[in-house]
Amino acid sequence: MKILLLENIHPVAEEYFKKKNYELETVNDSLDENELIEKLQDVHILGIRSKTQITAEVIKNNPSLEAIGAFCIGTNQIDMEACNKYGVAVFNAPFSNTRSVVELAIGNMIALMRQIFDKSRMLHEGQWYKTATNSFEVRGKSLGIIGYGNIGSQLSVLAEALGMKVYFYDIEDKLPLGNAEVCESMEELLQLADVITVHVDGRPSNKNLIDSEQFQLMKDGAIFINLARGFIVNIEALAENLRSGKIGGAAVDVYPTEPKLKKTEYHTVLQNLPNTILTPHIGGSTEEAQKKIAEFVPTKLHEFIRTGSTMSSVNFPNLQLQGIRDGHRIIHVHENVPGIMAQINNIFAEKGINIDSQLLKTNEKLGYVITDVTQNYNGDVLDRLKNIENTIMVRVLY
Ligand code: NAI
Repeated sequence: MKILLLENIHPVAEEYFKKKNYELETVNDSLDENELIEKLQDVHILGIRSKTQITAEVIKNNPSLEAIGAFCIGTNQIDMEACNKYGVAVFNAPFSNTRSVVELAIGNMIALMRQIFDKSRMLHEGQWYKTATNSFEVRGKSLGIIGYGNIGSQLSVLAEALGMKVYFYDIEDKLPLGNAEVCESMEELLQLADVITVHVDGRPSNKNLIDSEQFQLMKDGAIFINLARGFIVNIEALAENLRSGKIGGAAVDVYPTEPKLKKTEYHTVLQNLPNTILTPHIGGSTEEAQKKIAEFVPTKLHEFIRTGSTMSSVNFPNLQLQGIRDGHRIIHVHENVPGIMAQINNIFAEKGINIDSQLLKTNEKLGYVITDVTQNYNGDVLDRLKNIENTIMVRVLY
C-alpha cells in the first residue's frame, strides 16, 4: 500500500505509517491539480491539510486512490460528490483541536472583560492607564453558548469551573453538562448572557445567524465571541455595534473571506475598533492539536485498509469492524437505492457460497455492505458483484 502525505503533516503520522509497513512519500507543500494527478498514480492513500484542493478531475484520474485523510477539521477542499461517485472514503479529525478552541475562547473572554488588549496597546505606546473602571471578573457572569456540540459543551464545563453561569441554545436536544441551562430559543439566550459565544457548525442556513437584530437583543455592553465560521456573523453589523458601544468587546477568529496564503496583507471592517481582539483563524492551531490530528487520522485510515472499518468517515456510512479471522471480506459500495442487498445475496446463493457474517450500513448517498466468507470462490463472483447496477466499488480483504 502506497501513501502520499502532503503539506508538512506532523511527523507522528509518518512514524505510524512506517511502523505499519506502508510505502510512504512526503511532500512539504501542497500540489496543484496536474501535479496531483501525476503524483497520485499508484497511490492508495492521500494525506492532506486544508490547502490542497481535491477536484473531481483528481479523483477521476486516479483509480488506485482508496482513501483521503484530511489532517484538519474541514473537508470543503475535497470534492465529496466525486469521492462518492468513485468510492473514495474521506476521513478527518473532527475533535482533535476542540480543546485548543475552548482555551482560546476562555482566554478571549477574560482578556475582553478586563480590556487587556487596549490597555496593553496603550502601554506599548507609552501610556500608563491604570483603572478598574469597566474591568470585570468572569466569575459570577453569565455565558451564553450558541451551538452545544464538541466545542460548546467542552467550553460549558470549563466556564463553570471559573464560576460562570452557563446558558446554551442548540437546534438539537443536548444533554446539559454540570449546571448549564438550556434556553428555548436563541433570542432568550441573547437577552440573558453577559458573554455570548457562537460555536455552531457551517451549514448554509447559519449565514448571518448573528445580524443587527440579534445584536440589538443583547445586553448593553455584552461581550461577543466568534471562533466558529466567518459567514455566521454579519461583521458590518458587529463593527457598527462595537463603535456605538452597544457591544462592549469582541473576539473574532474567523472572517467571511480569508486569504489562502499564510503571510498576506488583510483588511476587515473590524480593524482598529475598541476592545476588539482579532486573530487569523488560529482557534484550533496549536502544537497539541496538530499532534492529535496526526495520531487520529492515520489510525482511521489504517483500520479502513485493514478491516474496511469506516468509523468517523465523512462520506462513507460509519461501520466499526473487527479484523478478519479466516477467509475473505468482500466490501461492496453502492449508491443507496433499493434492492442491492437482495442482488448481492442472490449471487452468493447461486454460487453456493455460505456467508459467515454480513453487515449493511447506509447513509443518504451510499450503501456499504461487508460480507465475510470462509470458503473459496472464483473470480466470477466478484465480476458479478461489480456488474450490479449502481455499484460504485468492490474490494476484497484477505
Ligand atoms: P459540532 O458539529 O460538534 O457542533 C456544532 C453544534 O451546533 C451542533 O450541536 C449543532 O446542532 C449546533 N447548531 C448548528 N446550527 C445551529 C443553530 N443555528 N443554532 C444553534 N445550534 C446550532 O462542531 P464543533 O466541533 O463544536 O465546532 C463548532 C464550530 O467551530 C464549527 O463551525 C467549526 O468549523 C468551528 N471551528 C473553528 C476552529 C478555529 O480554528 N477557529 C477550529 C475548530 C472548529
